[in-house]
This record gives sequence, structure tokens and C-alpha cells, in this order.
Amino acid sequence: MEHINRQQFAILPAGSEAESLYRTIVENVRDAIFVIDDERRILFANAAAARQFGGDRTGLSFVRVVRNPAVLEAIEAVLSGAATRKVQFVQEGQYRIFYDVTIAAIADAAGNPTRAMVGLADISHIHEAEQMRSDFVANVSHELRSPLTSLAGFIETLRGPARDDPAASERFLSLMETEAQRMVRLIQDLLSLSKVEANQRIRPEDEVDVVSVVRRLLRTLAGLAEREGKALKLDATTEVAPVTGSDDELTQVFQNLIENAIKYGRADSTVTVRIDWLDKAMGMSGPAVSVTVIDQGEGIPREHIPRLTERFYRVDTHRSRDKGGTGLGLAIVKHIIGRHRGRLQIESEANIGSRFRVLLPARPKAQA
Ligand SMILES: Nc1ncnc2c1ncn2[C@@H]1O[C@H](COP(=O)(O)OP(=O)(O)O)[C@@H](O)[C@H]1O
Ligand SMILES: [Mg+2]
Repeated sequence: MEHINRQQFAILPAGSEAESLYRTIVENVRDAIFVIDDERRILFANAAAARQFGGDRTGLSFVRVVRNPAVLEAIEAVLSGAATRKVQFVQEGQYRIFYDVTIAAIADAAGNPTRAMVGLADISHIHEAEQMRSDFVANVSHELRSPLTSLAGFIETLRGPARDDPAASERFLSLMETEAQRMVRLIQDLLSLSKVEANQRIRPEDEVDVVSVVRRLLRTLAGLAEREGKALKLDATTEVAPVTGSDDELTQVFQNLIENAIKYGRADSTVTVRIDWLDKAMGMSGPAVSVTVIDQGEGIPREHIPRLTERFYRVDTHRSRDKGGTGLGLAIVKHIIGRHRGRLQIESEANIGSRFRVLLPARPKAQA
């Protein structure tokens, strides 16, 4: 049997325009494409096939590349005259890869299906998105169910044991209020998240003075800081130019970060907001305004940091709930910063505290 390889296999006259067209298309599609003969030997594999299935496999039996019975059965059928088949299979390995496979017959001059084309499209990203969607629905349902279950329980108690006990009734009503407020916050955060997500690609265009946004917030949050025993400090000595963005959304970003610093900082400590100007920020094309929220606390263990901006991800769920958190704050922060073409950097040191730094692209100072 003569050895055929990728380069030698030619259906069309070499050098012809048709051959060039065919080769350009086949070598540049993302799907892996194999052509196999009626003995299941690989006659041709495109560049994507070589990339995904471990190099040039021409000349080898196709069974050695894909062992899946459904795929092999479909090849059998197509080579016996059946119409084009579509099957899916999962390749197990270090990562699971989901493939959508198309098997079509290639007829010879006499019209007989002597060869088959096997096209494999990696659809793992679709499975991943579906998985994320279903995880999200499960999380939301769970988060809503717990306050609802508590509410139902309190109602029962109010009707039963606490019926003629005004002091107990008052206590239960106040707990019910807390649970109802938790649900309201959750719904508000979910709405914010879906709104920012829907507008992700549209860049907001107002001119925003970051310093006054932060000043305004520090006034609003003074009460919470006092209740939580934290001092608030603004460190904004350098002049900064306005950023292009949305005042409302940037307010949400800094509110979330400052509230977190207040909630998760150590008692009797200081929360500092530092605003700096960078003529040239790393990874950005021009100048940037940098806003860093610094707390003094136990810090965040390193392994949690990359996951903090995931929806509902918390280092300590009980603590977050006790503090009235929804676990959505940093997910919202991340999306808003993304919409502003900015960056979020998180640094933390055990027993010292955390720094959440937001970099926002700004106009050059001279123009401002
Ligand atoms: N400044 C901080 N110090 C320590 N942990 C923090 C800080 N900010 C956020 N975290 C952690 O990140 C988690 C997610 O934050 P976030 O999305 O704002 O949710 P929430 O505050 O509602 O719990 C928090 O539950 C907490 O574990
Ligand atoms: Mg928060």
C-alpha cells in the first residue's frame, strides 16, 4: 500500500485555482476534517485535525484516532450508502471535550461512496455556557429559597406559639423584615447584573469626576462605617482628569468595594480610598485614574482571589449572609469595570488587609 500523506493527497489538480480555493478553506476552518477510505484509513487530515488529534495521522487507521463506537458505526453506515450522519461524543482526558461530528460520503466517479469525510467540531464552550447557566439558576433558587423558608417559619410561629406574646411577635417581625430586605437586595443585585451584562459591549460616555463620586459615597457610607467601627479616609492629593463612563455605575463599583472593606475589615480599623493619576497604565493605551480601596483585616487567602468575582462566590458564606451580602457585589463590579474598559486588581495579605484597585482609562490631562 502506497503511503499517502497530507501534502500528497490531492483531489484536484495541484496548482489549479480550484485546488488553491479548496486547500485554503479546508486548512483554515476550525473543525477537524478527516477523509478516510473504505478501509477506514486516513487519507487526509486538515491542519485543525493535526492540531487537535496529535499531529499528522495520515496513513493510520481512523480507529486509532477516534475510538468512539457511535462515530465508527456512522462511518460504516455512510460507506454502505446511508445519508450524511451527525453524532456527538465526549472525549475523556485531562479535559472533557465535546464533539459534534458530521460524517458524509464522498462518491467516486461511478457514484459509489468509496470515501467518507469526518468533520469534528469542538463544542465544549457551548456545554460550558449551558453548565454555567444551569449553575446560576440553581444558585439563585437556593439563595431565594432560604429567606423564603425562614419567612414561612416565622409566619407559622406568629400564628402559633408567639400568638399572644407581643414581645416575641415583635422580635419575629423584625427577623422577617431582615429576611424580606435580603430578598429585595438579591433581586436588585440580579437586576443590576443583568442590566450591565446586556450593555456589556456599549461603552458609557458621560464625563465622570471620580473624586466627587468617591467623596459623595464616603458621606453616604459614614453611618455604616460608624456602626461597624471603621474610620473612613480619602487620600486624593494628585489632580486627576475625568474618566469617560457612567456616574451611576461607577458609584455602584466604589460603593461595593467600600462596603466590603467596611464589612470585612477588622474592628476599629481604617478604610482608605486612594486616588492616583497614572500617565501610562500597564496594559492600557493611555493614562488612567486609579482608585484603591484599602482595608485592615485578616485578608483573603490567596486561592480564593481569582474566584471572588464569580457570582455567589464567597470566602465565608455565613459571614457574608450575616453582613447582609448577596455574593453578587464583585460580579457586578467586574462587569461594570469591563464595560468601562478598565481593570480590577486584587491584592491581599494575611492579617494585614486587602486592596481592591480599579484602573479606569482617562483622557490625557492637557485635554481635560
Ligand atoms: N475587603 C474584603 N476583605 C475580605 N474579603 C472580602 C473583601 N471583599 C470581598 N471579600 C470576599 O469576597 C466575597 C464576595 O464579595 P461580594 O461579591 O461583594 O459579595 P458579598 O459582599 O455580598 O458577600 C465576600 O463574601 C468576601 O468573602
Ligand atoms: Mg459585597
